[in-house]
Amino acid sequence: MKIFASILNIPWLSLKKALLSLKEGGIDGIHLDIMDGHFVDNISFGPWIVEVVREVLPETLLNAHLMVTNIRKFARKFIEHGVKDITVHVEIVSLDDIKFINDIGGRAYIALNPETDIVKLNSFYRFVEGVLVMSVHPGFGGQRFIPSTFQRIASIRHENICVDGGVNLSNIKDVFQAGAKRVVVGSAMFKEEDIQATVRRFKNA
Ligand code: DX5
Ligand code: ZN
Repeated sequence: MKIFASILNIPWLSLKKALLSLKEGGIDGIHLDIMDGHFVDNISFGPWIVEVVREVLPETLLNAHLMVTNIRKFARKFIEHGVKDITVHVEIVSLDDIKFINDIGGRAYIALNPETDIVKLNSFYRFVEGVLVMSVHPGFGGQRFIPSTFQRIASIRHENICVDGGVNLSNIKDVFQAGAKRVVVGSAMFKEEDIQATVRRFKNA
């Protein structure tokens, strides 16, 4: 079971220390939540964030979760910055966009909002590396996990499912038992001072 940390709510004033603690705790990857203030009602950070993270974590796997309307523009930018794994939303992506991402050296993943019908994934399954099931409405960290996510995971017809939003130490076991192979943890990863210990608790959950 893999655990990626979303840095949207990382303690920014001690960013370097927090990133190092994630690595020392054994985090499997970093999830970059890219928000354009249009597809979601919030703005986060641009491709520059890759160099900042790479300064501290040169080898760690990165996945750019694009909550943006201009998919091709930002997929290209993140791939040019060295992020291969690009997650885009089924609500606005086309099959041609997915092929574009794969053709320019990326590996496309597809995300699904809580209110979106799972049937919308059908034509994308064979072109993506995995499915990101949103367990919160995208745009902000620190929200509550939406319980209907468990049933939704069971109906996804892809072997590589990741769950993103409101995951914590009390629901992570159920998320994996429902069939997820990977989770994204944001605010719950940074609740305690000792981030390294928290990573370990999630890994052993
Ligand atoms: C929400 C983002 C999630 C979120 C996860 O739009 O896609 O990755 O930051 O943070 P928590 O774990 O705090 O819900
Ligand atoms: Zn995300």
